[in-house]
Amino acid sequence: MLVHNDFPEDLETPVEYFDSWLTPVDRFFVRQHLPRPKVDAATYRLKVHGLVNSPLELSLDDLKKFAQVKVPATLECAGNGRGNFKPKIPGLQWTKGAIGNAEWRGVRVADLLKKAGVKPEAKFGTANGMDVGAGKTPDFIRSVPLRKLLHESTIIALEMNGQPLPELHGFPARLIVPGWDGASWVKWVNDLQLAPESDKGFYFATAYKYPNFSVGPGGAAKPEEMEVLEGMAVVSFFSKPLDQAKVKIGAVPVMGVAFGGEHRITRVEVSADGGAKWVDAKLGAENFQFAWRTFTHEFKASKKGYYTLCCRATDSAGRVQPIEAEWNPSGYLWNAVDRIGITVEG
Ligand code: MTE
Repeated sequence: MLVHNDFPEDLETPVEYFDSWLTPVDRFFVRQHLPRPKVDAATYRLKVHGLVNSPLELSLDDLKKFAQVKVPATLECAGNGRGNFKPKIPGLQWTKGAIGNAEWRGVRVADLLKKAGVKPEAKFGTANGMDVGAGKTPDFIRSVPLRKLLHESTIIALEMNGQPLPELHGFPARLIVPGWDGASWVKWVNDLQLAPESDKGFYFATAYKYPNFSVGPGGAAKPEEMEVLEGMAVVSFFSKPLDQAKVKIGAVPVMGVAFGGEHRITRVEVSADGGAKWVDAKLGAENFQFAWRTFTHEFKASKKGYYTLCCRATDSAGRVQPIEAEWNPSGYLWNAVDRIGITVEG
């Protein structure tokens, strides 16, 4: 893993590990603002309260008694690719690897809310995890609008790729908000409060926001011009060959992954001449609304030389990756076509 911080851990997945549809747990990127809590499974409780008729306090065993559903979904940090923006933007300099795909299993938030009975005035659910504010860093708290919380794929996950959630990824329970930025996927979640308004704390009211107009490189926006991030942009990344690889004349296997946030991937194209001509890559069989799709291609290298390979994805909403990602003050949603250089040796 590429280590951005070792405490609390911020770990990036090297792109060569994007070679399988499910990202193995020990290769899955990690992002946390605060030291991770040690949670005792025996005393853990999830509280559902606020604007509900019957507040709930659920142990892990109670959560396991609800119907358990599997949701394959890609988790991407809003700041993935920040390190590629010019001019440079402060914050973690993620390159391309703050993204991974897993099969999450757990309880539908809608089932919990049905049991609690949501009052009509409730518009948001505010989720808090068991990590707490430290020094100047505030507590990590996020609100999710009720319309998304009630979606059948929004779950409190207890498992990741068939194992109990690892501590780094939120043991024993985390919120899964498919298609939305990773910040909404609150780890170690033990509190869900229903309210008419969203949280006023730093991580919802200030951070993870995007200007509602194009500010241009180095530009700024006023707080009232910033909107909460929700669905992720359309992206794709090569996993093979590696940037600056040397290959032999002949068939060069090319592969990668593409993700469209709340939209399915419908097409991935590959160019071997820096984006002048494009050909369709072959899409992988796994095709789920909120999960990335793998792609493969064979580049027929008939002549020695240096080649710039690009990939660009299209999703079911008709969004196509741009050549340049739109610069924004916090460096979110980087999604330029991926671009690598390879040398074909004679
Ligand atoms: N949940 C808590 N409680 N604390 C955090 O700092 N970080 C969020 C989210 N959930 C965070 C959190 C962010 S910004 C991201 S991108 C994802 O967790 C990363 O999830 P992962 O570490 O499982 O990859």
